[in-house]
Amino acid sequence: MSAVVIVGVQWGDEGKGKVVDLLTAEADAVVRFGGGANAGHTLVVDGEKVVFHLVPSGALHTRPRCILGAGMVIDPRVLIDELAEMRRRGLLSEGRVTISERAHLVLPVHFLVDELRERGPGAIGTTKRGIGPCYQDRAARRGVRIGDLDDPAHLKARVAASLAGWRPEIEALGGTPPNPVQVADELLALAEELRPWIGDAEDAVHTAREAGERILLEGAQGTMLDIDHGTYPFVTSSSVTAGGACTGSGLGPGHIDRVVGISKAYTTRVGEGPFPTELHGEAGEALRRAGHEFGATTGRPRRCGWLDGPVLRHAVRVNGLTELALTKLDVLQGLETLKVCVAYELDGARLERPPSRGLERVTPIYEELPGWTEDVAGARTLDALPETARAYIRRIEELAGVPVTLVSVGPDREETIRLRDVWA
Ligand code: IMP
Repeated sequence: MSAVVIVGVQWGDEGKGKVVDLLTAEADAVVRFGGGANAGHTLVVDGEKVVFHLVPSGALHTRPRCILGAGMVIDPRVLIDELAEMRRRGLLSEGRVTISERAHLVLPVHFLVDELRERGPGAIGTTKRGIGPCYQDRAARRGVRIGDLDDPAHLKARVAASLAGWRPEIEALGGTPPNPVQVADELLALAEELRPWIGDAEDAVHTAREAGERILLEGAQGTMLDIDHGTYPFVTSSSVTAGGACTGSGLGPGHIDRVVGISKAYTTRVGEGPFPTELHGEAGEALRRAGHEFGATTGRPRRCGWLDGPVLRHAVRVNGLTELALTKLDVLQGLETLKVCVAYELDGARLERPPSRGLERVTPIYEELPGWTEDVAGARTLDALPETARAYIRRIEELAGVPVTLVSVGPDREETIRLRDVWA
């Protein structure tokens, strides 16, 4: 039996979708455990690009069951569209998808509040998908859960309680609160389409585990966006690290066998907040162009920079990573020299990991490594890579203290070097 957690080690967009998609071909169940439609997983299948926000990346395979766990915040309209896309491709057979009754619904009021806040001086560059306000309702115990869709009277009361809670802030920000009756009626209409897929997701995960099946737990965002371990307050509102895989799926820590961290061969970030190795000007532009670094959810240009060793070390610790998967190695091709940040300097002290405060003031300490000009997309073994690319990977392993077990050298499923079987 195996339960493998996949998490991003940076600020999201590490290419988790492709790695999950690959491993999913070998899994029996794939579980999303947190976040919502702020995530965007881009998959390229037979040259066609498909973006999913809510259903697990494995949805494009025929075999694994897709489970949307209790830790998620679900925009019903987006989910209905994605289920329709699965159906269109003949991939929505009975029992294929289970949506946790415990997951929370993203309501129109959450979008409205997210949008109004982002217009103000405290904007943090959210995806404006209502994620923060929805998790806020959850913590305030006035959220509306998927299971509430089953009881119209109860649903109406829950929606009214949420809206009453938001009214003062919306009015103070100059907005008009949505009508609770209308919102509840709309939700009830949408519920018809979701009902066949709503169920006991936690039982589904445990039943799979007890049957000795392979379970993949698919993280969203990345460690540096974690509500506790990220660059607070420039973070998302959920636990995106490996601990969140447990709380968001209902598995216990002892049920997890491996934790794979996905890291880009360089670093990107969307939204505001500190980013020590960020490249400004033409160098950053060149990386953005080469890596097609534009957000899958918002289309925003991503900020680009060098690989950050302290971030890697931090991610290895807080997730208990057993290994790394390195993505987009091909994007670095053609650069004469590569820089890797090995530590920071802050107020005269050397730091090996990101500090809880003051990350915007650190100076990265860089090491330079020679680049390569050869096309690496065709490589399927480490030996097929140029020696300089292999040396770059070795240095990453040294900095992280865990092995690199997968290297992605292009967007297609086949463009991958696999060094170890995660299920073994
Ligand atoms: P929110 O999750 O929409 O509240 O946004 C909070 C922060 O997390 C912003 O900086 C977003 O750009 C960032 N963020 C949220 N989801 C993702 C993601 O899937 N990839 C990259 N950044 C994300």
